[in-house]
Amino acid sequence: MSDYLIAPSILAADFARLGEEVDEVLSAGADVVHFDVMDNHYVPNLTIGPMVCQALRDYGITAPIDVHLMVEPVDDLIKQFADAGASWITFHPEASKHVDRSLQLAQDLGCKTGLVLNPATGLEVIRHVMDRLDILLLMSVNPGFGGQSFIPETFNKIEQARQLIDDSGYDIRLEVDGGIGVANIAEVAAAGADTFVAGSAIFRNDDYAEVIDQMRTALENLR
Ligand code: DX5
Ligand code: ZN
Repeated sequence: MSDYLIAPSILAADFARLGEEVDEVLSAGADVVHFDVMDNHYVPNLTIGPMVCQALRDYGITAPIDVHLMVEPVDDLIKQFADAGASWITFHPEASKHVDRSLQLAQDLGCKTGLVLNPATGLEVIRHVMDRLDILLLMSVNPGFGGQSFIPETFNKIEQARQLIDDSGYDIRLEVDGGIGVANIAEVAAAGADTFVAGSAIFRNDDYAEVIDQMRTALENLR
């Protein structure tokens, strides 16, 4: 099993001081910057685009930026985010007419890529593209907003996804997004996840290092 990665979602950060917030959360021990892109079309909310990703790179952020596209269609924004310094680009299969082509596009542009499955989307959609996935991201809330509660059925899905990935022999990270905090991160890991998105659990606390340390301790205690 690969190392655990903690990916704070900047959706819950203070956008007026985004560069500093990202610096602070990385200094506090975060591994990856989770960057939620919403278009008020695929999901009922509107957030940030490639200019903001580029601005974080220009500000000096060198950590991996994990761009979670909640947009439809995806291909044009895959190109724009690859140009803007994205490291990982994931998208929802329902939002691309040609999923295999969109995955190839992101990879050809030098990014790690993968699919994001909504709570009601079955795992079958990944079966014939597993060789193209670097990441499988399972939503544990319905996409569109931070601060929602973790949907318990996700545990079954994480277990099944872990089995599929292990059986495939491919090197695919299993990331989970939504409603993750100190209280449930160990359970999410025990089900088979290795990459954890957390927005409000981290940014709504004054001390980011304290929350991230508590998350790491919870994960360590599992080993
Ligand atoms: C929801 C986003 C999540 C969100 C997670 O559509 O994809 O990344 O920011 O936020 P929390 O951790 O607050 O549930
Ligand atoms: Zn997300």
